[in-house]
Amino acid sequence: MTLLPPDAPVPPDVSARLRRLAGGAGATPLWRNTIGGVTFRTDDGRVVKIGPRNLETSMRAESERLRWAARYTPVPEVIETGEDGDAEWLVTRALPGRSAVDPRWVEEPATAVRAVGEGLRALHDALPVAGCPFDWGVEHRLRTAAARGLDVPASLHAAPEPDLLVVCHGDACCPNTLVDDDGRWLAHVDLGALGVADRWADIAVAAMSTEWNYGPGWEDALIAAYGVTPDPERLAYYRSLWNET
Ligand SMILES: Nc1ncnc2c1ncn2[C@@H]1O[C@H](COP(=O)(O)OP(=O)(O)OP(=O)(O)O)[C@@H](O)[C@H]1O
Ligand SMILES: [Mg+2]
Repeated sequence: MTLLPPDAPVPPDVSARLRRLAGGAGATPLWRNTIGGVTFRTDDGRVVKIGPRNLETSMRAESERLRWAARYTPVPEVIETGEDGDAEWLVTRALPGRSAVDPRWVEEPATAVRAVGEGLRALHDALPVAGCPFDWGVEHRLRTAAARGLDVPASLHAAPEPDLLVVCHGDACCPNTLVDDDGRWLAHVDLGALGVADRWADIAVAAMSTEWNYGPGWEDALIAAYGVTPDPERLAYYRSLWNET
């Protein structure tokens, strides 16, 4: 997954769908994910994500989670979602922030890491477990992995006792936090897997992703910004579960 330059080439099947969704608006590429999906920003204030349908999450599931979470915490407003053939899309209202991995913030990792850690804590504090209709617990994730034909090692079938159940983001890696011009977290995006789970399921991924985005040495700063002390057993377990699923 990478930030794209505005002149990045776009596959023909994506650009045909983009033309239709953008209407008359201009659109520039913003982001490419690992399964070939591309996100664009339109010049009339929308963000259009188009990608192949996949088994793990769907953009329809993401739109349901965005609509639910929007009652409690800043996330993009859904404009429309749909699917046809082998592709699906999600159109949201653009928020006035940059990804925590925008070059502006990669140059200032201490600020970005703090924003991601504080943002994750605020998300967990804001979303109510009681009444959350979505699950991201270990059993659910293992079932989903099995349905995708993944062979998760037996050692990961027994999870550590939950520390604290919260509504997890489900993909808490740094790019999914938007940061304002003052370096504070602004909102979260990419909620396709949001659901109830132990908070360390998110903390482990957020901490691990600092290394991919800012280099080694930022994990403890992220966990400190979240406001807990590192829990080596749960960090190791949820890191492995992420990597195996
Ligand atoms: N409504 C929005 N307003 C501003 N920026 C947005 C918005 N939605 C998405 N973005 C930006 O576009 C990027 C890609 O969006 P998103 O994370 O939903 O796509 P994805 O392809 O599912 O990502 P991943 O590679 O993590 O799977 C985000 O990291 C964020 O920087
Ligand atoms: Mg993302």
